[in-house]
Amino acid sequence: MMLNGKNVLLGVTGGIAAYKSAYLASGLKKAGAAVDVVMTQAAAKFVTPLTFETLSAAPVTTDMFSREKPWEVEHIALAQKADLAVIAPATANTIAKLACGIADNMLATTILACTCPVVVVPAMNTAMYENIATQVNLQILKDRGFIVMNPAEGALACGTSGAGRMREPQEIIDFLQELPMEKGNGLAGKKVLITAGPTREAIDPVRYITNRSSGKMGYALAAGALGEGAEVMLVSGPVSISPPQGASLYPVESAHQMYKQVMELKDSADIIIMCAAVADYSPKLREEHKMKKQDTLSLELVKTHDILSEVGKEKKAYLVGFAAETQNIEQYAKGKLEKKNLDMIVANDVSGTETGFDSDYNAVSVYRRDGSVVHLPKGRKADIAVSIIREIIKSIG
Ligand code: PMT
Repeated sequence: MMLNGKNVLLGVTGGIAAYKSAYLASGLKKAGAAVDVVMTQAAAKFVTPLTFETLSAAPVTTDMFSREKPWEVEHIALAQKADLAVIAPATANTIAKLACGIADNMLATTILACTCPVVVVPAMNTAMYENIATQVNLQILKDRGFIVMNPAEGALACGTSGAGRMREPQEIIDFLQELPMEKGNGLAGKKVLITAGPTREAIDPVRYITNRSSGKMGYALAAGALGEGAEVMLVSGPVSISPPQGASLYPVESAHQMYKQVMELKDSADIIIMCAAVADYSPKLREEHKMKKQDTLSLELVKTHDILSEVGKEKKAYLVGFAAETQNIEQYAKGKLEKKNLDMIVANDVSGTETGFDSDYNAVSVYRRDGSVVHLPKGRKADIAVSIIREIIKSIG
């Protein structure tokens, strides 16, 4: 979701992580969003409304019964205005209220009236987070379409360590930007298998061969497919980003593991999108112990399975490949489309750093078997992914 020009309702509840939400308000503004902050009374004990008023450049609401704009029913006005609502931090208390539909403060009342996507960012003590009551309440929210961003693990203000830390403001902003714009149902009832990220080919217990794939493009495709109502199986090499909520993650490390996992899942998929940057070669031998330094080192490499070609041999699903090229992009992409028996190939230029590997941006050309092509100019990977998914939907009819 592009935040630029959007109205974001930021709900702040009473936890020590409320101070981080000040940075979140500021980051949302910098991303171009208009921010309306609603705080609970407890939140206002941790950070003053004035802080948020200054950062959001808008009045902050804490009280159900203040009559600053007597002509508006304020909670309804705020709910109707919002393109997106984010509750960060979300305490166990507020999560429980939302799960039960209790509307006894301004924030809970406003959220109950929201029809836009609502993102809940929990923050609390680990035992409170893991308590079955909280877990059931979070599940209720997810079942009702709320988007829950799982908390991070680490040191907590209560002196313990574990799950329950509020996600960092920048992580939340990245997560919001990766959210698909609108929910569609173009892939309702469809199962989509997506590969993403790099693979690691072990040389010895501490060294490996890999590439610069971050997984961002594949994960954005997973989010885009989920946004169209698909069931998503995400086979991912090692990356440092979180999978979109709702995707079933199958983590793998090596090309061989990815091959085995894809072979196991492929027959249950209606659509397969292979975005992973799979290593083409792997060391023939993996040393059992860390290799000692030598003046020169020769590694014998053997070819890995070409997973996409293997899937293309007995093709049942609509099959989409990627082509990462540095020259003759159209020619090489069309060659792969033909040779690997694909229905569609998405070609990207990976010679620079502005797009392609590891960037938040990409620019691609989508080639179909019938010879048609769609060029998608440089944009955020989240938006490129949504466009690719729409092209797939057009193709499968
Ligand atoms: O992860 P990011 O940092 O966001 O970067 C995105 C990306 C650049 C990795 C992505 O957009 C991309 O181009 N993915 C394909 C990378 C690649 O390996 O391209 P290729 O042209 O070498 O391979 C062609 C196709 O065969 C790909 O669909 C690939 O997944 C598949 N393949 C390749 C080798 C192999 N052994 N098995 C395969 O299945």
